[in-house]
Amino acid sequence: MKKITLVFGTRPEAIKMCPLVLELKSRPREFDVSVVVTGQHREMLDSVLQAFRVVPDIDLNIMSVSQTLFDVTQRVLAEMRRVLTENRPDVLLVHGDTTTAFASALAAFYLEIPVGHVEAGLRTYDIHAPYPEEFNRAAIDASAEYFFAPTAATRENLLREGKPAERIFVTGNTEIDALRFTVRGEYSHAELDWAADSRLVVMTAHRRENLKNAANPEGAMRGIFRAILRVVNEHPDVKIVYPVHLNPAVRDAAELLQNHPRIHLIEPLGVLDFHNFLAKAHLVLTDSGGIQESAPALGKPVLVLRDTTERPEGLQAGTLRLAGTGEDGVYAEFTRLLDDEKLYAEMSAAKNPYGDGTSARQIADILAK
Ligand code: UD1
Ligand code: UDP
Repeated sequence: MKKITLVFGTRPEAIKMCPLVLELKSRPREFDVSVVVTGQHREMLDSVLQAFRVVPDIDLNIMSVSQTLFDVTQRVLAEMRRVLTENRPDVLLVHGDTTTAFASALAAFYLEIPVGHVEAGLRTYDIHAPYPEEFNRAAIDASAEYFFAPTAATRENLLREGKPAERIFVTGNTEIDALRFTVRGEYSHAELDWAADSRLVVMTAHRRENLKNAANPEGAMRGIFRAILRVVNEHPDVKIVYPVHLNPAVRDAAELLQNHPRIHLIEPLGVLDFHNFLAKAHLVLTDSGGIQESAPALGKPVLVLRDTTERPEGLQAGTLRLAGTGEDGVYAEFTRLLDDEKLYAEMSAAKNPYGDGTSARQIADILAK
């Protein structure tokens, strides 16, 4: 019997870890499972836990409004020291690149508890983009013993950094597993009815490096939003639904898009709703990580509102294109994808490179051995 603790704290980690929690808990003869949530996110985390009916064993409840990286890191490090000292699992599973994952992996490393990194090996090789996630993922991989890499390319990154081949497992991404719980043939919503006469663009934006900062007092996000307004004004058959992240700094920037008759700013959607919105979209604009995986699996072209991505497989497969974060570049790429039917058809037909929705089972099988 293996004693496994999983820890996560934000919406995307929860969406990708819940399928694994459910798989591990369905095998009680093999695994003694405990689930710790840090509460780095509150409402956005709770909504995912409810959707998957996962009840955490421990909730550290650390979120504060407008928290800094220092706040999150020190609270998670101190609390996970306490939890892991009491709990001492055989393996601590962390996910991806959040500060919850980084500080939890660091606590486990200090206590000499092996770390398994789910979604290991992603890199942009630009420490500032995404910020601070590129640092977090490299630091987690520095401390981890088991690497669950979603793709062959991420495995190559780990090998190049000297990680032992026998501890790297290519498993696909559990984001695709999550879609099997959420996407329905029969699905309706008032926002989809509103957009039924138009091409629906679903968008999200929340990256920390695109918000106001010392280097860019306006913040790149406002330029991105100005470009989007220009394109929507030139395309009367386009409507946008943008569920706005709860970060107050994102909400401040998003005010630019308020009051346009064909743009709806709405509250964050539950994961079941959001995945079904993706399934009904014409295309997707996002700076999110997870949406670069789920939208292509649903056959939806994605314009990535970033200068670089840790998901080059999606670029190579042709399902993603980088729009950058400059106003003119975003304007040009968005216009092109709306107007160029051939490009749109090619991107919609490209094959999703992130697996077949069996990642959680593959990871559990490896842990069992
Ligand atoms: C975090 C992750 C990022 C991930 C993103 C997913 C880090 C450093 N960043 O960024 O990698 O892409 O989550 O969304 O780990 N808030 C609420 N309620 C919520 C969630 C957030 O009010 O349910 C507000 C709070 O004011 C909070 C702020 O959003 O202070 C920012 O949250 P935080 O987790 O610090 O950063 P994110 O930008 O969400
Ligand atoms: N998502 C959601 N509701 C929303 C917006 C996004 O459930 O209103 C889902 C989305 O499908 C994806 C995940 O949240 O599975 C991505 O989270 P986010 O963009 O916050 O973080 P990132 O992936 O960039 O770390």
